[in-house]
Amino acid sequence: MSETILVAVAWPYANAEIHVGNITGSHLPGDIFARYNRLKGNRVLMITGTDSHGTPVTMSADKLGKPVEEVYKSFHEGFIELFQQIGITYDLYTTTHSENHFKVSQAMFLALQKNGYLYREFSKQWYSPSAGKFLPDRYVEGTCYICGYESARSDQCDRCGNVLEPEKLINPRATTGDGALELRDTEHFYLDLSKLEPDVKKFLQSRSAHMRDTVIGESLRKIESEGLKPRSITRDLDWGIPVPVDEPQWKTKVLYVWFEAVIGYLSAPIEWAQLSGQKEAWRDWWINPEAKQFHFIGKDNIFFHTSQWPAELMGAGSAFLEFFTGEKDAPLILPYDVPANQFMNLESQKISGSRNWAVWGRDALTRFDPDAIRYYLTANMPEAKDSDWDWAEFVARNNNELVATWGNLANRVLSFCYKHWDGHAPDVDPASLRDSDLGLLAAIESGFNTVGAELEAVRLRSALSETMKLATAVNQYLDVNAPWSAVKTDKDAAAKTIYTALKAIDSLKVMFAPFLPFTSERLHGFFGYETPLFGEQYTEEVTDAIGAHKVLRYRAGQTGSLSSWKPSDLNPGQKLNQPGPLFKKLEADVIEAERGRLGK
Ligand code: MF3
Ligand code: ZN
Repeated sequence: MSETILVAVAWPYANAEIHVGNITGSHLPGDIFARYNRLKGNRVLMITGTDSHGTPVTMSADKLGKPVEEVYKSFHEGFIELFQQIGITYDLYTTTHSENHFKVSQAMFLALQKNGYLYREFSKQWYSPSAGKFLPDRYVEGTCYICGYESARSDQCDRCGNVLEPEKLINPRATTGDGALELRDTEHFYLDLSKLEPDVKKFLQSRSAHMRDTVIGESLRKIESEGLKPRSITRDLDWGIPVPVDEPQWKTKVLYVWFEAVIGYLSAPIEWAQLSGQKEAWRDWWINPEAKQFHFIGKDNIFFHTSQWPAELMGAGSAFLEFFTGEKDAPLILPYDVPANQFMNLESQKISGSRNWAVWGRDALTRFDPDAIRYYLTANMPEAKDSDWDWAEFVARNNNELVATWGNLANRVLSFCYKHWDGHAPDVDPASLRDSDLGLLAAIESGFNTVGAELEAVRLRSALSETMKLATAVNQYLDVNAPWSAVKTDKDAAAKTIYTALKAIDSLKVMFAPFLPFTSERLHGFFGYETPLFGEQYTEEVTDAIGAHKVLRYRAGQTGSLSSWKPSDLNPGQKLNQPGPLFKKLEADVIEAERGRLGK
């Protein structure tokens, strides 16, 4: 039966280019999972967008000396270009700076308020008399009062990972150099997470059988040891979503970025539905209790997705729709799984944008093919523990696995067949196949179950290595049957071997497709099929009451809802197209050249 699946990826901040660690952390696993489910014929909606508000973005605009709107847009458009080039097939990639997202976020706020989960309170915040304003979050740094780290941001410590109460920071200083700071009273809204703690715990326990140990363990432990505490959800800032309260003191404040960005998981499907001309279609992923939602995120975002976001959803309940559309009694569903990844390092050091210790997505794509990058990032995905991007390993795995095991297999068999059977698959009677042919095909066929099971459980590394093992089995089969020589002595036997190998490659192409979509699509074309494996990406400009924003979209086209996740149905004698190599071998000097770019 076809399933309904929301693939929700963490919203990247519009404050830095995207690097390989970000890609392998969330966008790529989300895309592999989405593509697999589309091949299965499931109904997939994959969404996210640019996290355009908050101090990460305003501070980077300050640094560049440019208006924040201009800065957010230029990162946003760069992200869209990257996702198109590397094939991250968002059904909608949008931004939090849209009228729709404002409205959805404000309706969530009002729903939480109505249900009694918000309260107002004055607290002391850091104020800069020389700048004449409050300095929230990243505008203030100091020593973490939990672990002693000296460069903690006032809202969060990057060393111990704890969320901080700004007024407790030791030795606070303005990151903008805005002179001495003093504590002044300011009023904010708080989300009363403590009231929702029992619900969050129950929710997590109900998901514990299938959630990764690293995710469920950390989430439950944190609640056990510290409990869930109320958290402020507004800020003294002028860039962001207005607080929907009609009193003058709220005019200079906005919703806290972490409160509203997660709401994008709901607003993006709503925007997608509007843009697709089926206004109500988002409900299939949000009101339908059969739908499953998966959140692809990095480990630094776990708390927000396993605790805060479910708490917002449970707290708002059916009142969200009451405020948004006026209807009653339609509660929103909760996430099914949060397969958070650990981090990827680079040449054994932490990736750091400011030191240029990074492999930037768009830059790397000017020198390497998208599938080569996707392959290495998947083979090395930090699913269970931190991993490392190492240029020597990148070259070795590209040459020894992607090129030698898979690319050469496909190219050798297709070219040989094309030449000796005049552009067609050998016209063999399937009933005449030998035991060894049938044995290979059975092994490949079983891959659809074993690889599929790994993909469904979001064990993508293992799914890929399982597929690569099957490619090795085809190479071994060819070594034994040696059609290259048999073609001269026993063309009939060679025909059976080549037909069998073609069928195996045709099947492996589907199994590799979620990981290597560009080359699988080309290979699919070599086999002479007319309907592609996947649809196409395209961009659109959307104009609304607060401005204009570009979006990236995906059109399934003819690929439709039928399952392609099944063994090859290549026909004997099928017409082929002229094949060519799928991957490029990399020279060893790439390693030094790439290492030479780091840290400069
Ligand atoms: N922008 C955040 C980051 O890059 C992630 C936000 S995820 C969301 O760490 F759920 F809040 F949108
Ligand atoms: Zn700390």
